Amino acid sequence: MRLENEVVLITGGTSGVGSAIVDRFVEEGAKVAVFGRSIERLKTIEEKHGNKVVGIAGDVRSLDDLKRAAETCVEKFGKIDTLIPNAGIWDFGRSLVDIPEEKLGEAFDEMFHVNVKGYLISMKVCLPYLVKSRGNVIVTISNAGFYPNGGGPLYTATKHAIVGLVREMAFELAPYVRVNGVAIGGVSTNLRGPAALELDQLTISDLNLDEGFKQAPVGELLSSYDYTGAYVFFAERKDNRPATGALLNYDGGLGIRGLASFTGSADLLEKLNLTEEDLMKVNI
Ligand SMILES: NC(=O)c1ccc[n+]([C@@H]2O[C@H](COP(=O)([O-])OP(=O)(O)OC[C@H]3O[C@@H](n4cnc5c(N)ncnc54)[C@H](O)[C@@H]3O)[C@@H](O)[C@H]2O)c1
Repeated sequence: MRLENEVVLITGGTSGVGSAIVDRFVEEGAKVAVFGRSIERLKTIEEKHGNKVVGIAGDVRSLDDLKRAAETCVEKFGKIDTLIPNAGIWDFGRSLVDIPEEKLGEAFDEMFHVNVKGYLISMKVCLPYLVKSRGNVIVTISNAGFYPNGGGPLYTATKHAIVGLVREMAFELAPYVRVNGVAIGGVSTNLRGPAALELDQLTISDLNLDEGFKQAPVGELLSSYDYTGAYVFFAERKDNRPATGALLNYDGGLGIRGLASFTGSADLLEKLNLTEEDLMKVNI
């Protein structure tokens, strides 16, 4: 177990990647305070993990809610070692030309308030506890923090903003608190859109992501759990002391896609006189 005696607070931990991170961190020995909107889902997670998890209901746009989350975490588990700002919404790739001008301001506010202000507030309320514990922050970014077409201009702008937030906060909090980001790629989850664009009832899992992600060099759509290892690495106190201000592209290789083909390996086996049967059966 790599995270024994560590205490983590995560936002958006009741579904998708956040919920997989909760499972993984509990497996690794951590205690986890889960902040989410759905009381029902929080109850389910508490039932699943018993006294290793505490659920706190609220909205990441509310300072009071997040303050209560930090206080509850400390009351229950004594400290906060790792904060994981993760709650987010997506814009389903809605282009600027397709956003009605009377909806633009409202949609902008909603996207930025959840995706950026929510991260800022969570850092603000956890700050004294994180400094005390010489802890760390791990933010969920996205491929959209680096490349176009992972969303529309609203989502892409929020995730680029978070890249800046990691750099600035890593600077401001060094050497007491390490701040790092994991730019995960596409995954079929409950991810929804802004109500301002009437996208709050649609989820990313309603789309056929499988086809699109065969075009990532990794060759398949990854699961939420596949993304959890990077969070464990950044949370551990061993082996990663140099990691602060680090931004990990953890998206199945989207940044090394070729122009003529997605990977350069089409005839690799043939050139090496190998067949699929010659490859080791590994658990990937
Ligand atoms: N799914 C993808 O393809 C993908 C790709 C790259 C990055 N991401 C990022 O991963 C993170 C997690 O998303 P996910 O895919 O697991 O989706 P998800 O919807 O399953 O998880 C996001 C969580 O955030 C919560 N949330 C949303 N608005 C909130 C608010 N105002 N207050 C409190 N909680 C709120 C949701 O209820 C949900 O539990 C997000 O930051 C997202 O941008 C997702």
